[in-house]
Amino acid sequence: VSRPTMAMERSYIMIKPDGVQRGLVGKIITRFEERGYKLAGLKLKQADEALLKKHYKDLVDKPFFPKLLAYMISGPVVCMAWEGKDVVAMGRKMLGETNPLASAPGTIRGDFCLEVWRNICHGSDSVENADKEIALWFGEAEVVDHESAMQDWIY
Ligand code: TYD
Repeated sequence: VSRPTMAMERSYIMIKPDGVQRGLVGKIITRFEERGYKLAGLKLKQADEALLKKHYKDLVDKPFFPKLLAYMISGPVVCMAWEGKDVVAMGRKMLGETNPLASAPGTIRGDFCLEVWRNICHGSDSVENADKEIALWFGEAEVVDHESAMQDWIY
């Protein structure tokens, strides 16, 4: 069987401190699994200011940044790399809009939150940013290559 040589698309999806504290980790992972995506990286991490300033480098000058920073370091986050067809665009669709009020019921933000700054989950907005964010939050050995894993129990 010939396989495409291009690596499968990945998105950086992060459950924010409120999502972790409210016990929504399992539900969010289930949504991505059930949609058909593969988990390629997963860990719980306490982020610090330096890391968040890199992650949100385009937002550091915004008036809401101090509040965003305090919220994002208020507890651990769950860092995930999800892999599969169109996962970046689909991940954004599954998340909903930045503002929960604009997020349709059925989306993660549309189902689980009420406030723009406390919106449960992050998802990369482009394939290029996804690659950068995965490299920022994960070490190289922490993201797995499913292509080379033995899967002979899948019939
Ligand atoms: P942004 O990257 O614009 O949104 P998204 O997370 O949907 O990609 O903003 C990052 C986070 O900053 C956003 O999830 C919530 C917070 N934020 C505010 O608190 N107030 C705002 O006005 C905006 C635009 C974002």
